[in-house]
Amino acid sequence: MSQSMHLPVITHSKGELADAFSRRVTYLRVSLTDRCNYRCTYCMPQDRSDLLPRDEILSFEELEQIVRVFASVGVRRVRLTGGEPTVRRDVIKCVERLARIPGIEDVVMTTNGHRLVELAEDLARAGLTGMNISVDTLDPARFRAITRRGDLGSVVAGIKASMDAGIRPLKINVVALKGFNDDEVGTLCDFSWARGIVPRFIEWMPMSDGSLFAPGSLLTAAEIRALVQAHVGRPLEEDAPVAARVVVGPARYWRVKGEPHRKVGIISAMSEHFCDTCNRVRLSATGRLHTCLAHDDDVDLRRIVRGPMAGETKDAAILAAIRGALMGKRMGHEFSTTGCGGPRKHMVTIGG
Ligand code: 5AD
Ligand code: SF4
Repeated sequence: MSQSMHLPVITHSKGELADAFSRRVTYLRVSLTDRCNYRCTYCMPQDRSDLLPRDEILSFEELEQIVRVFASVGVRRVRLTGGEPTVRRDVIKCVERLARIPGIEDVVMTTNGHRLVELAEDLARAGLTGMNISVDTLDPARFRAITRRGDLGSVVAGIKASMDAGIRPLKINVVALKGFNDDEVGTLCDFSWARGIVPRFIEWMPMSDGSLFAPGSLLTAAEIRALVQAHVGRPLEEDAPVAARVVVGPARYWRVKGEPHRKVGIISAMSEHFCDTCNRVRLSATGRLHTCLAHDDDVDLRRIVRGPMAGETKDAAILAAIRGALMGKRMGHEFSTTGCGGPRKHMVTIGG
């Protein structure tokens, strides 16, 4: 009997990435740092004594090697997240490096917007092709309270700087919280539409073992749609047929009937599951691959990247580890509307 009949066959085919449920993976979210200049109450605990030592964080060379492997099997879009990606030193150089990788068509970012006045032009020049900026409220005192240290003026100026720099598409992310910003759903739409931007409302997810979840504060997708409709005095209609959602990921888009330029996105992990359309995986700043936001299992790619293998052998080992991780990608989350069933990890460590 030949040996090959006994040994597991590890293939390093260049075939595109898919998980055990035939979901194709074309999108990689990369956390550049676990640090943030804000302290949003729903994202992290007040005490941050668990900050990572710097030598645990992937260098740009190491990150580039991993992204090249992803690109070789069909990943086309990379989103930089954090913590806050703009507090990572030399973030511009990172964008430049990733944007040059063959196969990568989009390098985009999710940011709190605090440093954009300073950085937007350089980010655009480096090849950033889109940005999501978080604005949960347009009331400066509320903004300060939810971010524990943020400054709304800097963020609004940062949005303008990004538009002036030509970064498109630009979206505004709003974590929707009953009793906090449900009275601002309409004004946040107007603020965005006045700038030609699509606002996206995100249902609060119970990360951090549910410890940051305030019962009763979930504002559901249906409630968000009702608030938008009441504000504009017209019905909403879905902007894309359900089948097209496979390509766009979890956000569903709605438009004011007869007014296609007034759109809203809703990301509803809680009340309207979307796991069947999931097209993404996440890399932590330390090089651990998380195939699901809502579960704590991960696979250590840094161990391979920093290990002794050379050249193509190392790339093949990284790819084998990625494929192995994808076979374990969960069918979906187990979030419940009581705040249970989420992962122990904090959102700040994985970047949304
Ligand atoms: N639930 C939903 N969204 C969250 N974000 C951070 N924490 C949570 C949470 N618990 C959002 C941020 C930002 C993105 C990175 O994730 O507001 O838009
Ligand atoms: Fe920082 Fe974003 Fe988390 Fe707020 S939501 S603390 S800005 S990483």
